[in-house]
Amino acid sequence: MAVLRFPEEDCQVKDEAEIRARLKDLGVDYERWSLDRVPPDSSAELVLKAYVAEIDEMKRRGGYVTADVIDVNPETPNLETMLARFDKEHTHDEDEVRFILAGRGIFFLHIQGRVASVEVGPGGVRRVPRGTTHWFTLCEDRRIRAIRWFQDTTGWTPHYTDSGVDKGYQPLCFGPAYLGPRVTTSISA
Ligand SMILES: [Fe+2]
Repeated sequence: MAVLRFPEEDCQVKDEAEIRARLKDLGVDYERWSLDRVPPDSSAELVLKAYVAEIDEMKRRGGYVTADVIDVNPETPNLETMLARFDKEHTHDEDEVRFILAGRGIFFLHIQGRVASVEVGPGGVRRVPRGTTHWFTLCEDRRIRAIRWFQDTTGWTPHYTDSGVDKGYQPLCFGPAYLGPRVTTSISA
């Protein structure tokens, strides 16, 4: 189950259809796919085979040329360094497309002067247009496994905004894994 929040507006949405509609208003596609094709611990190769129809359809929709499986867990080497790449506001020159297979995280969007956070979990699919300012952080279990699509075979390239906006938001996960309050620092002018 996903949770959409607008922290400044004290607004929280849990209804999937409403989440989908409100994200659509922000230019972000969100949907849910079934996870029953393969056991959750299947190899990346098996996962990509099992979802080949959806992967190919997504490629057609967005002009994506390649897809892979990213797997992040507490045993991932240099985990904190990797997470630090995700959790600062950035953009990409291509869409960011993810199908969450396991784990949970919070995806922040900074659009039209508003910040929205989306807590995403298994089954969630999101497609964020190129150029959208966003950042992402994991929940307490430090676990995420997802299929990713790319328009550029060179892969994931972030362009950091250095706005500091990300420092003002705590990654509050209310799902199965909760990350305690984030230590924030003041944003200098
Ligand atoms: Fe990103």
